[in-house]
Amino acid sequence: MTAIIDENTVLTGGDEVRADIVINRPKALNALNVDVLQGLILALEKVQKQESLRVITITGAGTKAFVAGADIAWMADLGPRAIADYVELGQRAMRAIERARVPVVAVVNGYALGGGLELAMACDVIIASDKAKLGQPEVKLGIIPGFGGTQRLVQRTGIGTARRLIYSGEMIEAEEALRLGLVDKVVSAEELQEGATAFCNEIINKAPLAVQQAKRLLRESSEQFLLSGLQREVETFLDLFQTADREEGMQAFMEKREAKFTGK
Ligand code: CAA
Repeated sequence: MTAIIDENTVLTGGDEVRADIVINRPKALNALNVDVLQGLILALEKVQKQESLRVITITGAGTKAFVAGADIAWMADLGPRAIADYVELGQRAMRAIERARVPVVAVVNGYALGGGLELAMACDVIIASDKAKLGQPEVKLGIIPGFGGTQRLVQRTGIGTARRLIYSGEMIEAEEALRLGLVDKVVSAEELQEGATAFCNEIINKAPLAVQQAKRLLRESSEQFLLSGLQREVETFLDLFQTADREEGMQAFMEKREAKFTGK
């Protein structure tokens, strides 16, 4: 694989018709800091300059995680302006995936939590390893999903499942995610890359203009609601970020202990 942009956090490779993007911070379970989010936007711009491109994949480096969410340690000390910039950047990165000219396939090789699941849900299709675990654990940190989870989870699973997963913060196995419509295909961990390639080839050999126009129309079918929902999500995320419970939730994560919430 050839690194064409910041080789520490986002790698790209592939061939004439397929681009592979890898989030590369395995020691932090590929958590999304500013470098990763900016790198992802740049990588998407770069690979789409290739006219022959038909499909993009996104995966996480290592065997443990796709992406374990927004970078909690990094977020914890941010002031109001910086956190607003960060959440807006995260939402821009998710929109860049959603608005890519060609279908984007999330290859979920491990934990897809919080911002990581949100990243997967911004992709067109989610293929998961049977070892993957998925969830929106933000309420355990005193916050809500901030990169589109309150909107895109509903789109994928319906509101009942979205409520259950977001209120409880629970992690679910890939097989359950498949039953719920949260992921589209589950493949054994050993065969994940082959499974992803087989699916990409299904797209690659179809009429490219038809696939790309279908992608646009499918996106536009719910775009108006999505955009206003995303705006309200940012505002609510920023309000919650000022609370004592958020400080306690993030501190507890970093100290590897249970949080004690007070509703303040
Ligand atoms: N941010 C920053 N660092 C993270 C991280 C995250 N989201 N997730 C994991 N890490 C780090 C850990 O702090 C740890 O670092 P150290 O080795 O320096 O201690 C390293 O990655 C390995 O993680 P663990 O030791 O915790 O590994 P584990 O196997 O015991 O647990 C896990 C794995 C269940 C995924 C656990 O790491 C975890 O719960 N991570 C946090 C998941 C989460 O809450 N995500 C949501 C973030 S908020 C968000 O995403 C908001 C939004 O919508 C925008």
